Amino acid sequence: MNNREIQAAWTYHDGTKHSYWSIRNNPHFLDWANRPQPFKIYPKIEPVPLPRDVPQTGVTALSAISEPAPSSRADSVPDLQDLARILYFSAGITKEREYSGGKIYFRAAACTGALYEIELYVVTGDLPGLDAGVYHFNPADVSLRLLRKGDFRGNLAQATAMEPAMAHAPTTIICTGTYWRNAWKYQARTYRHFGWDNGTLLANMLAVSAASGLPAEIVLGFVDAEVNRLLDLDTRREVSLCLVPIGCKSETSLPARREAPALGLETISLSEHEVEYPSMLEMHDASLLESEEEVAQWRAKQPVFPSSSPSSSPASPPAGEAVRFERLPEALQPKDTIEQVILRRGSTRAFDKSASITLQQLSTIVDCAARGLPADFLEPPGVQLNDLYLIVHAVEGLKPGAYFFRREQNALELLKAGEFRAEAHHLGLEQELPADACVDVFFLADLKHILERYGNRGYRATQLEAGAIGGRMYLAAYAQRLGATGLTFFDDDVMSFFSPHAKGKSAIFLLAIGKPLKRRPE
Ligand SMILES: Cc1cc2nc3c(=O)[nH]c(=O)nc-3n(C[C@H](O)[C@H](O)[C@H](O)COP(=O)(O)O)c2cc1C
Repeated sequence: MNNREIQAAWTYHDGTKHSYWSIRNNPHFLDWANRPQPFKIYPKIEPVPLPRDVPQTGVTALSAISEPAPSSRADSVPDLQDLARILYFSAGITKEREYSGGKIYFRAAACTGALYEIELYVVTGDLPGLDAGVYHFNPADVSLRLLRKGDFRGNLAQATAMEPAMAHAPTTIICTGTYWRNAWKYQARTYRHFGWDNGTLLANMLAVSAASGLPAEIVLGFVDAEVNRLLDLDTRREVSLCLVPIGCKSETSLPARREAPALGLETISLSEHEVEYPSMLEMHDASLLESEEEVAQWRAKQPVFPSSSPSSSPASPPAGEAVRFERLPEALQPKDTIEQVILRRGSTRAFDKSASITLQQLSTIVDCAARGLPADFLEPPGVQLNDLYLIVHAVEGLKPGAYFFRREQNALELLKAGEFRAEAHHLGLEQELPADACVDVFFLADLKHILERYGNRGYRATQLEAGAIGGRMYLAAYAQRLGATGLTFFDDDVMSFFSPHAKGKSAIFLLAIGKPLKRRPE
């Protein structure tokens, strides 16, 4: 059981840290002539077009993000329009931009480098408008491609050791990561990006499912080899990352597991040549779950996860000054629908450093995002692996300084007061964005604790959770007509900045929030 040999996750994490010197000494350059194709294409399979004019849900973005998932007791079966809505608003093309070498197709969820290494597949029983099968989703032509005909949901239920949502789901979306598409730019750090970029996409997927009245959850406990085989993946290139069962049928009429022989389906090469980064393959292999028994044990083992910081336990009073969060009252909340907000979202490229946001706006973002994700690795509901640390530059009602978010009290604890724009500039890889934002939210996790309990798979879970919470923050910011962007960071310098409070934790994710700089008319 490799998953328990947690040195593997430490080796990967420590080996992919950014530092001032690692960035300067890295000879890597972008080989534009060898840039990977942005889409996975099966040239010999006919498309099954998805409907494009799908009715809007009418549900506001803030409630879609933060309301608990609809009850899974009543039957809720997606139809083809629901499926099209969920796929499009998770991974569809929302904007195009020309650049000297061609076009960039921007998608519904933020993704490092706009490289979109996350692919989506659908494993479904018969749905209104769609026959049972295993399909690949291609955002380029908004179509599905049938890889296997027939109902393979029994295979997935078995691979997840009969996870309850999987056993009742009429349909499941599987997210995979394609190494080279992102490693072309980010090299071995791509394995972290798998979690981040899959996470932002999941934030959209969960919100749009909820807005469509369909329960959905993230399932990370599954026998990897079974799922990879079902999708016919070449696992040196592409691997399954998580499963999202959508909808619920009360009676379980799951078909038995079926044989899924290799298909050897032809796909178009991503690049003329690909570079393999062994440390990522090693990290992934070390986090595989190999049998149903191992999956069941992995899930059952999940403990009541105590908050990783001693000072964040509900019992201990905050050491520093505390400010309670208060989100915007219902009546004052913006009413834009989840679809409108996803279409509007785009990472802020320059923040207005003379602007500020209000405490209520920040409260609303954090409160919506950190309410607890529906996920098989987060039991009981409300458990969270990542802790939030903030550098506040310009939030009305808050002193500038460094803060820790105490989830249980929904309050910010002041760690140190001061103007830290210069420090934020450095921590965020010397970019202007974190210095000019109103607030930077750092995600830090007690990896030692997490890996002890979840094994190497806990590393995947931590990165994925950070991406999903970060993705919700993006949406909550854009719902309020603010701006946001994910950022990368100098790992150890982030920890030093937030120490001693953050001692022993690891830097996982960073998101800057503020007001976009309005361009002057030319
Ligand atoms: C986790 C994450 C990290 C990112 N890091 C940076 C960064 O360090 N610098 C930057 O300018 N943009 C960063 N971005 C923004 C991406 O470049 C952006 O999401 C991508 O170009 C797609 O554009 P869009 O978000 O506007 O749709 C990051 C995005 C994510 C999700």
